[in-house]
Amino acid sequence: MTSEGEEVHLVLDSLVIQESGEVYRNPTEVKMSQIVMPCHSNHCGELSAGQLLKWMDSTACLSAERHAGCVCITASVDDINFEHTIGVGKVVNIIAKVNRAFTSSMEVGILVTCEDLYTDRQWKVCHACGTFVARRTEAGKVQLKQVVPRTQMEQMEYSLAAERRRMRLLHAEIITDLLSSSTAQLGECQEYQNAVPAERTRVESVELVLPPHANHQVNTFGGQIMAWMENVATIAACRLCNAHPTLRTIDMFHFRGPSHIGDRLVLKAIVNNSFKHSMEVGVCAEAYKGGDPLRHINSAFMTFEVLDSDRKPRTLPRIRPEPVDGKRRYQEAIARKKIRLDRKYIISCKQTEVPLSVPWDPSNKIYLSYNNVSALKLMATRNNWVLTSEKNKVRLYTLEENQTLCFKVEMHVNVSAEQTFHLLSDLRRRKEWDRDHYEECELINQADEEDTLYRVTTPSVGKGAKGTDFILLASRRKPCDARDPYLIALRSVTLPTHPPTHDYTRGEVLCAGFSIWDDSSSTTKITYYNQATPGVLPHISTDIVGLSSSFSSTFSSCSRFLEANKDGPAAP
Ligand code: COA
Ligand code: ADP
Repeated sequence: MTSEGEEVHLVLDSLVIQESGEVYRNPTEVKMSQIVMPCHSNHCGELSAGQLLKWMDSTACLSAERHAGCVCITASVDDINFEHTIGVGKVVNIIAKVNRAFTSSMEVGILVTCEDLYTDRQWKVCHACGTFVARRTEAGKVQLKQVVPRTQMEQMEYSLAAERRRMRLLHAEIITDLLSSSTAQLGECQEYQNAVPAERTRVESVELVLPPHANHQVNTFGGQIMAWMENVATIAACRLCNAHPTLRTIDMFHFRGPSHIGDRLVLKAIVNNSFKHSMEVGVCAEAYKGGDPLRHINSAFMTFEVLDSDRKPRTLPRIRPEPVDGKRRYQEAIARKKIRLDRKYIISCKQTEVPLSVPWDPSNKIYLSYNNVSALKLMATRNNWVLTSEKNKVRLYTLEENQTLCFKVEMHVNVSAEQTFHLLSDLRRRKEWDRDHYEECELINQADEEDTLYRVTTPSVGKGAKGTDFILLASRRKPCDARDPYLIALRSVTLPTHPPTHDYTRGEVLCAGFSIWDDSSSTTKITYYNQATPGVLPHISTDIVGLSSSFSSTFSSCSRFLEANKDGPAAP
């Protein structure tokens, strides 16, 4: 991490000139620019992360309120990764806009950049997604109006927001499962010489919620609570290393319940574990009023580093945990570190940079499923497809970009979207309409209701040639609302129980799948996507004509299969 990152050319002016010549600006967009003054910074002259969190929360809240037209509260803020620190005198630019509205909640995307006014350079500091909920009225839960995405970027964020929401709502469950499976394998805490006793890092601090800490509806600002939590976490981190710690990441903040003016907020923090170059600090925020019992408002886990004069992470002292709870948190911090690394690898990976197949890990299945569906959604929101051929009402589109080639096949059927989804979801039935590519398909593992692992074999082409086999993860999604399609995403994974064999060449699928739209009461639009893997690219690009004809006959056959089974057993 550096104080000034590599310059990036960010489009901070979010006005988009549309093809019609009309200038478009997202109606929910809110911008905030602040000069970082000494009063916003720590003793090292860097903007305090707590102050930044307050600015991010208020910008995002104003964007949510702009869409909702009523008071909104912070429900959660997803994981944040701070790429750079920001010095006094720099300008912080924050842009927030509503990516999607659900029933009473909205996802707001927040982009933070730093600007040097004297050199005219700017760089990204972090990106975050917050969820804001329209406050209930006496009539009950608010039903928000829909967001209408207009640009390709907005369509992409709209589509991905549904996936992120699924992860958010499952977050507590996923973490509990992951922690119990990972900590069971860890055994005893390691003893280090000269380890710092954890109790030395313990912090407890109280805050009285005053009117400036609250919004006009007397609810404490989420950003204020996050700032107080960051403050105690920094003190705990500092007590471990006796040096200035730099905040690197924050795991998801979830506001479990509201707090109001007059509440006392008790903030507790301790270093849960320290690793070679980073430490995890846990923070817990509880509220009380008068003699009432404490209410749990929030818990968060933050990772800190200590940077040397070259801004490289220093080696940190190890920690000796307290008995019972301390030992449990020590082990859980190891598990959370693994989760962070796995997520970073799976979620943020660029399709072209990773091995094509990712290892199947049951404890990480939610992220693998997220990654599978998101990749398909990203391909589906591309708008530069070129119509290559049309035959028997089957259209083939191609898209060539950055040395990748993608296909899109589109057709309509007179079968309900739900039944189409049901029939196409079971890959074992694909051989009924795609014998050229699916010779056999074995269900290896039904990981959960939405994710299934299959082994698919394809026939060999030519005498003496080997057939190809694939280990595929199929992730299915029903629509989040009427504006979403049904989705079946496919990608290759590796499975220790199914290594490559001598009899087959192991093939890989980078990203493929179906999107199924309810077009009208009787017709359904099916779109099949496939991103060609680098290995097959040279063969394909020289034979687009042969390919069009093959796609056309396969998908005509798919259409006949669906029509023949339209009244088959109802979708479960
Ligand atoms: N992350 C994101 N969204 C969440 C969530 C989470 N962890 N938990 C609930 N939600 C969403 C739900 O999906 C739902 O969205 P929808 O209406 O679009 O479907 C919405 O919040 C309301 O859910 P509901 O089940 O009606 O209410 P709830 O009892 O779960 O309460 C809050 C949710 C956020 C209203 C409640 O936890 C709360 O008041 N928290 C404190 C918020 C606050 O005061 N923040 C400021 C700092 S104190
Ligand atoms: P858990 O104990 O399961 O981690 P909590 O929500 O109770 O979950 O606490 C979150 C984090 O807050 C803990 O991991 C710990 O780091 C910190 N914390 C909790 N209680 C205390 C306390 N009494 N003193 C200092 N820190 C605490």
